[in-house]
Amino acid sequence: MIITDTHTHLYSEAFDEDRHDMITRAIAAGVSRFFIPAIDSTYTERMLQLEKDFPEHMFLMTGLHPTHVKDNFKGELEHIEGLLKSRKFYAIGEIGVDLYWDKSTLEIQKEAFNHQIKLAKQYKLPIVIHCRDAFDEVFEVLESEKSDDLFGIFHCFTGNLEQAHQALSYNMKLGIGGVVTFKNGKIDQFLNQIDLKDIVLETDAPYLSPTPYRGKRNESAYITRVLEKLAELYGVSQEEVAAVTTENSKHIFGI
Ligand code: NI
Repeated sequence: MIITDTHTHLYSEAFDEDRHDMITRAIAAGVSRFFIPAIDSTYTERMLQLEKDFPEHMFLMTGLHPTHVKDNFKGELEHIEGLLKSRKFYAIGEIGVDLYWDKSTLEIQKEAFNHQIKLAKQYKLPIVIHCRDAFDEVFEVLESEKSDDLFGIFHCFTGNLEQAHQALSYNMKLGIGGVVTFKNGKIDQFLNQIDLKDIVLETDAPYLSPTPYRGKRNESAYITRVLEKLAELYGVSQEEVAAVTTENSKHIFGI
């Protein structure tokens, strides 16, 4: 069984004590493909090191996370463009709008999001969207940029069925992680009305641990809890969920 974690911050400081063991645990659990979203330029070196340490397993993205869009964002965008020119990345992410942490940066968040979507189109890459308390704002940008060459993943999807359909209409797959195992996570109530072909698995480690680890540090091995839950929701085997979602990830990332 090959499980793909399409969104995991393995370079995070949260794993500095036991990174190698934690990754080895995940690989032993069947998770052999890790897609690594960027946050900002301060993490670039750590991401490159991670790839060096596990070259067959790590697939890097580049991008500026919406909560890290600050006054210096134009310099950050130049850093991203420099990286894109210098080597292969598998997606632009994570990018989007976050109004939970800071509403005052909405305008520059939208500007950075827009700019990075254009980069994704230029380099024919998928985007990985971060959306928190900002469905209207994210959909507004996607609506203005929608086209055949816009595609990607709506990471940590937590909306309702209607919002799910809208996300799919922009050629996005839904990134499903620990939230689907939460008692009050809500998405478990309609997810089986979404084709499994439109879903990819993720952990967002070290955040958003699935039940029964909720509130604790998350790690990629825990994606098996998400797999179990989806198998139950769709009434299919875990092997099938792993196979279909891995295939979906290959379509998106091209590897
Ligand atoms: Ni993330």
